[in-house]
Amino acid sequence: MTAPRRADCAARDEADALAPLRDFFDLPDGLIYLDGNSLGPLPRPAIARVNRTLRTEWGEGLIRSWDSAGWWDKPLALGARIAPLIGARPEEVVVGDSTSVNTFKVVVAALRMRPDRRVIVTDRDNFPTDLYIIDSAAELAGDYSMRRVETPDDVAGAIDESVALVALTHVDYRSARLYPMDEITRAAHDNGAVIAWDLSHSVGAVPLDVDGCDVDFAVGCTYKFLNGGPGSPAFLFAASRLHDVARQPLVGWHGHARPFGFEPNYEPAPGIRRFACGTPPILSYASLEGSLEIWDHVELAELLAKGQELCNLLIELLEPCFVPGRFELISPRDSRLRGSQVTLRHPEARSFLAALARRGVIGDHREPDLVRLGIAPLYLRFVDIWDAADTIREILSAGRVARRD
Ligand SMILES: Cc1ncc(COP(=O)(O)O)c(C=O)c1O
Repeated sequence: MTAPRRADCAARDEADALAPLRDFFDLPDGLIYLDGNSLGPLPRPAIARVNRTLRTEWGEGLIRSWDSAGWWDKPLALGARIAPLIGARPEEVVVGDSTSVNTFKVVVAALRMRPDRRVIVTDRDNFPTDLYIIDSAAELAGDYSMRRVETPDDVAGAIDESVALVALTHVDYRSARLYPMDEITRAAHDNGAVIAWDLSHSVGAVPLDVDGCDVDFAVGCTYKFLNGGPGSPAFLFAASRLHDVARQPLVGWHGHARPFGFEPNYEPAPGIRRFACGTPPILSYASLEGSLEIWDHVELAELLAKGQELCNLLIELLEPCFVPGRFELISPRDSRLRGSQVTLRHPEARSFLAALARRGVIGDHREPDLVRLGIAPLYLRFVDIWDAADTIREILSAGRVARRD
């Protein structure tokens, strides 16, 4: 089979009904941005939304905007907009705090739900913040032991009736390997354990069905594939069946049943609001709200399928360059096992990425030798993938990238 030519890719873009979505983004000219899995680019609707929040809501509305501009309800209103992207009901998601903070909330809430159990299962290669937070939350909550599995295949075998919580990241941030959410959630529940998923690299990138899989808790970032902006607040999902029983530890006044009662004792608000904590970042909500407008124009299944096609194309184009020990594919080749990211191994990954950046292709580096290329179907074209692969081939054929390239 002959490799696709640039003209073939241009023809695919021409025929692509999703191609106009790119116009929602303010992308620098001449740049191919393959880092939307770290920080998504600026969506044009976010500019308008932030300006309105600054000028009208803050500038003119002042304190009145907590009610008149709906600031008070933003954590729930934005949660309801993220819900369909993860397969949740609108009343099951709240937006606020960071993913790290939300992880702390759900880990402690989960451990409190299983007071007689003393084991937590997680993944040795989980994102470091998850590992740190799980360890610290467990230390505060009591005397727990950790089972850190090495691969997704080891998870089911690590779960037994001593396990209180299984806490995993759905798409591995290094390799883009996908954990089977339905199977693992079932294994956790069959053994009476609570499950919590970190969806930071999944939301807006792969199909998700947290309710269909009967997930207990989930958290995730909004500044990656959701393009909410640097530091945009994270989301927290809790299944509605748990709202009345789960007790999260960061009991701030925004999660109180009567915040303006200013009562000395805490009483959780009904529903998902009990997972909120303190005054949220309204300007960051505005940029996230603007970026979420784009998803109203998206047929999600089609978009996510396009993401996988773009990943497959990149792998196909780079295939002839793969040489064991020199330049290798780390992500699974099978798109059913992969997030929307292609990870490569290059012994001089840092210089290789610098050489790519000088030629207008932005990816990122993970120690020691990984090159991560995030593939965001909202704004990437088939020709972008062809051009990026061509640039990669050119750098590889020029020889050692460290030379000073
Ligand atoms: C899987 C995962 N969890 C959490 C985070 C970061 O969380 P926070 O928003 O608290 O910095 C990241 C950031 O890249 C991540 O990849």
